[in-house]
Amino acid sequence: MTPGPERYELTWAGKRASLALAEAPASGTLAAVDGDGPHRLIKGDNLEALKLLEPELGGQVRMIYIDPPYNTGEAFTYRDMYQGHDRWLSMMAPRLILARRMLRDDGLILVSIDEHEHRNLVILMTEIFGEDCYIGDLIWKKKSGGASQAFAFAVDHEYIVVFGRNPGASMFDDTQANVSTRYPHRDERGLYSLERLDKQNLGYHDSLDFPIEGPDGRVRTVHHKNPERKQARWRWNAETVKARYDELIFRGRFVYTRNYRKASARPRSLLIDARFGRTRTGSRNLIDLFGTEVLDYPKPVRLMAHLVRTCAGPDDLVLDFFAGSGSTAHGVLAVNEEDGGRRRSISIQTDVPCEPRSKARKLGFQSIADVCAERIRRAGGELAVFEVVGA
Ligand SMILES: C[S@@+](CC[C@H](N)C(=O)[O-])C[C@H]1O[C@@H](n2cnc3c(N)ncnc32)[C@H](O)[C@@H]1O
Repeated sequence: MTPGPERYELTWAGKRASLALAEAPASGTLAAVDGDGPHRLIKGDNLEALKLLEPELGGQVRMIYIDPPYNTGEAFTYRDMYQGHDRWLSMMAPRLILARRMLRDDGLILVSIDEHEHRNLVILMTEIFGEDCYIGDLIWKKKSGGASQAFAFAVDHEYIVVFGRNPGASMFDDTQANVSTRYPHRDERGLYSLERLDKQNLGYHDSLDFPIEGPDGRVRTVHHKNPERKQARWRWNAETVKARYDELIFRGRFVYTRNYRKASARPRSLLIDARFGRTRTGSRNLIDLFGTEVLDYPKPVRLMAHLVRTCAGPDDLVLDFFAGSGSTAHGVLAVNEEDGGRRRSISIQTDVPCEPRSKARKLGFQSIADVCAERIRRAGGELAVFEVVGA
């Protein structure tokens, strides 16, 4: 971390030693295991793998997405084993330092996290990337309803913390933003819905509460839900109504304007629509490929596709160094199929063998890395597999 003029700093037991790990030279090498193609899987520890990739790909990655262990204290298939905050921070810090070196000047890094480490992660990343590179958090709705054992409130969401390699890094428009709104009408300009000219929640204003006569001779007025307490108003003032009278649509008691469907829109911070999927959608994606879930809590392909669509252009390189079942690479393949892009992906996943009684083992996979490889192939990705050896 570059010493800066920060007035506060995150400290934890083992910080100095963990930062030194980022600077220690790589001890292993990358060995090609099999296959060839624009998508790569590297089996091995990500700290070592990132160091080995840096000479070739440092400064070239447009988008990094990671879904690290959340440190929940529960044992998952892959073991969420970083019990203390200090150990979790020591695990993350050197990897984030290396991640930053992989990013292109306009690169973005997105990190999934829940309430256990969100606050620490944001401060840690602020130290590594810089205050002015913090773009913000996306909130993903991971489940809807269902029973909960929570003491206080049931947590339905998690975070995706977004930083840029440099200040001002921006995202692409969301081309699917309007897919879930209904646009039932069409004219020569395209699809549209009707939007009432009177609005209840903009705040009352005398000058925005006047009668408008339609071409049918019928006079329409602002509709107040409670005429005793006027709260509604027109969205247009009298001058605009006069100037743009032809654009108004008079139907029954109301006046409307046309709300045209836009080709795309700025991506929003709340990812709550069904189009982003939920945790169970992620499980379903794996069941569709393998007949069983294989791994707990995989991210849905739809969520990953949305992030790829808004963060990586058609020729960009996408990296996930906590790849798990390979949902990021799957998202990359899905978006390439959608827009004809040639995005490449790199997935890094430890090759530690799964528990003998795990679902992955029952399916004949030795490790989650093997699941990841098979998934990328089944999703149509041409894959080159590498292994970190001698580390
Ligand atoms: C939360 S899971 C990622 C799940 C993934 N997003 C998906 O949708 O399938 C985190 C993954 O990171 C892997 N992992 C943990 N520590 C690692 C390390 N040091 N190097 C490489 N992979 C690691 C774990 O084995 C686990 O599969």
